[in-house]
Amino acid sequence: MKLQKTVWALAAVAAILAGGCASDNSGGEREMNEFVTGLMERMTLEEKLGQLNLPSGGDMTTGAVMNAEITEMIKNGEIGGFFNVKGAQKIKELQRTAVEETRLGIPLLVGADVIHGYETVFPIPLALSCSWNPEAVERMARISAVEASANGINWTFSPMVDICRDPRWGRIAEGSGEDPFLGSVMAAAYVRGYQGKEMKQSNEIMACVKHFALYGAAEGGRDYNTVDMSRQQMYNGYFGPYKAAVDAGVGSVMSSFNVVDGIPATANRWLMTDVLRDQWGFDGLLVTDYNSIGEMLPHGVAGLREASAMALDAGTDMDMVSGGFYGTLKESLEKGDVDKSDIDRACRRVLEAKYRLGLFSDPYKGCDVDLAKQVTYCDEHRKTARETAAETFVLLRNEGDLLPLKPNKTIALIGPMADAGNNMCGMWSMTCTPDNHKSLLTAMNEATEGAGRVIYAKGSNVYGDERTETAANGIRPIARGDNERLLNEALAAAAKADVIVAALGESAEMSGESASRTDLEIPDVQKTLLRRLKATGKPVVLLLFTGRPLVLTWENGNVDAILNVWYGGSEAADAICDVVFGKVAPSGKLTTTFPRSVGQIPLYYNHLNTGRPDGDPTQFNRYNSNYIDESNEPLYPFGYGLSYTTFSYGEMTLDKTAINAGGSLTASVKVSNTGNCDGYETVQMYIHDVLASQSRPVKELKGFRRVFLKQGESAEVKFEINADMLKFYNYKLEYVCEPGEFEVSVGPDSRNLQTLKFTLE
Ligand code: BGC
Repeated sequence: MKLQKTVWALAAVAAILAGGCASDNSGGEREMNEFVTGLMERMTLEEKLGQLNLPSGGDMTTGAVMNAEITEMIKNGEIGGFFNVKGAQKIKELQRTAVEETRLGIPLLVGADVIHGYETVFPIPLALSCSWNPEAVERMARISAVEASANGINWTFSPMVDICRDPRWGRIAEGSGEDPFLGSVMAAAYVRGYQGKEMKQSNEIMACVKHFALYGAAEGGRDYNTVDMSRQQMYNGYFGPYKAAVDAGVGSVMSSFNVVDGIPATANRWLMTDVLRDQWGFDGLLVTDYNSIGEMLPHGVAGLREASAMALDAGTDMDMVSGGFYGTLKESLEKGDVDKSDIDRACRRVLEAKYRLGLFSDPYKGCDVDLAKQVTYCDEHRKTARETAAETFVLLRNEGDLLPLKPNKTIALIGPMADAGNNMCGMWSMTCTPDNHKSLLTAMNEATEGAGRVIYAKGSNVYGDERTETAANGIRPIARGDNERLLNEALAAAAKADVIVAALGESAEMSGESASRTDLEIPDVQKTLLRRLKATGKPVVLLLFTGRPLVLTWENGNVDAILNVWYGGSEAADAICDVVFGKVAPSGKLTTTFPRSVGQIPLYYNHLNTGRPDGDPTQFNRYNSNYIDESNEPLYPFGYGLSYTTFSYGEMTLDKTAINAGGSLTASVKVSNTGNCDGYETVQMYIHDVLASQSRPVKELKGFRRVFLKQGESAEVKFEINADMLKFYNYKLEYVCEPGEFEVSVGPDSRNLQTLKFTLE
């Protein structure tokens, strides 16, 4: 350690003496500009192009394997950074090569998809959003940064803030759900957590908000598919969270795979320059998604050389994986197809990101083998992950207060997720070590030790058909068994039990990238199992593992209790037991609508009205906007979630019924814990613009408060409403509020609301 530091100090002095990389030390934009300008004056065109190149290291093994190809590229000055390499020692060596064995000694950006934790894995982002607790999200991002930075990573490709209204899309798991207001609050929390105060400290890393833009609106929920959307919808429904991340000072932005207005986002100048840079003032680093410059060929827009020129011209600074920037921009420059000033601009942005991270002062930043051992997956982080996970579970149903269970019962724990410790984390947990994670069975045995008894049976495969199961399981397989035998074993186990706990749903990799589904029911054999368990007449608790809303219409009508545990991370098993046995009361609320049927999708709470709104939802009303065979109503609406206690709402009051442009009013409501235990309630406030120059959503979330109430306790919850909160992007894309009547609603979810009116004068 000491030796390494000495080596670096000498290298730094040598570099300075040789006119190489100097230390930035001080902050400030002016100093940074001088430093970067000075450095760029000494750079050749090839060296500048090298800075724009971001290849994948493809080496996530924890052993000492060194990536020879990356090392060669570093020595040749061909790359500005890399991603997908795990291990402090390996990364340190790669960084050392850049600093000591290249002409200018420019340090590297070291990226990774640290999306919901490094080795201490937190719930998937969709679940995190269901905590409605931005502090918890910030804490998770902070812990991720502490672990990742000690392991050599200085850049995470998170947060993913794509609004999604289509649960067929597997990547719904990676975002904060369907609402731009909540999504914006969460986006800012992620950025604060990763970047800390200013991104420069040893345990602060650069965040990357993605995927800009609109990736979550892929047609049919099929990944990478076409997006086509009005500008009003973009600005009002989808852009908010990206902008919130920019406002929070996010250091980098990643463009998306999809087209926007028919042009791949990667090369969409309107999006990258007009909106992101000019309108929002983003001055950080803009990186493409994985090989998305290369993908402009199948998009039918351009081959690699032309696509690279287009992407650069659109405002892209760094090319992830395609190699097009490094490989073709020189030729394009010679042919006059790109401007040198654009290459300089892109290079400057990469160097500025490195400067802001403090890499020119200390290229290794927090990367430290001993520290990594100390902080990675440490007890303190795991404790926080366990507590956070419990906050994200959503109690969807609890007939006869079946939950919490008493640990002194005989419990039949059944299902393919019950003993699948390697499946607790869900998607994008590449940096974790899933084989170390406790299974639910182990955790439940521990939680009931000395009191009750757990009888386990796997009960079913994930899918009956082996080929579908292989596709579903991805890299984290769950051992298969004979469908018939598994079912019989489960029924035998159930026969001996007081209560059945069925751990069913999606395997971890059934959501995330490239995991779209058309059927959103619990998969075939698991559903058969659940029906047979129900038929035993014993009480059934469904623990639902999923990365997306599923269609649970049958389950809601038949299963006694449903606790949605999403994918809860490395500590999920213990967290689930904390909630199942009542150490913690569930408090999560949905941030994504659960449909009654796939045919209703897209189904979201903040929709526009039609000219023919549906009437009585219990019957078919011809010539209204509805379906012959299904109601318009969701099964579980946005904002919904139960607790072990109950909350009652008093009558809402407004202190005024009119405000002007500079004024504000306060909506108040008394909320009381009327049940049998302490608990959190998230009180939600929605606004509706009754008549406007364009049709406005029937309601939009504009505020929420998460309050802890002891049994019997009450609190007065207040929301201040001002004219800014009534603004929207009109047809001319002006951000305005229009005078007239508004409705304000408060309640425990987006369906169960009380409403009052006020006027904006
Ligand atoms: C994903 C990104 C991710 C990148 C790097 C892409 O396939 O779309 O979200 O950050 O890979 O792993």
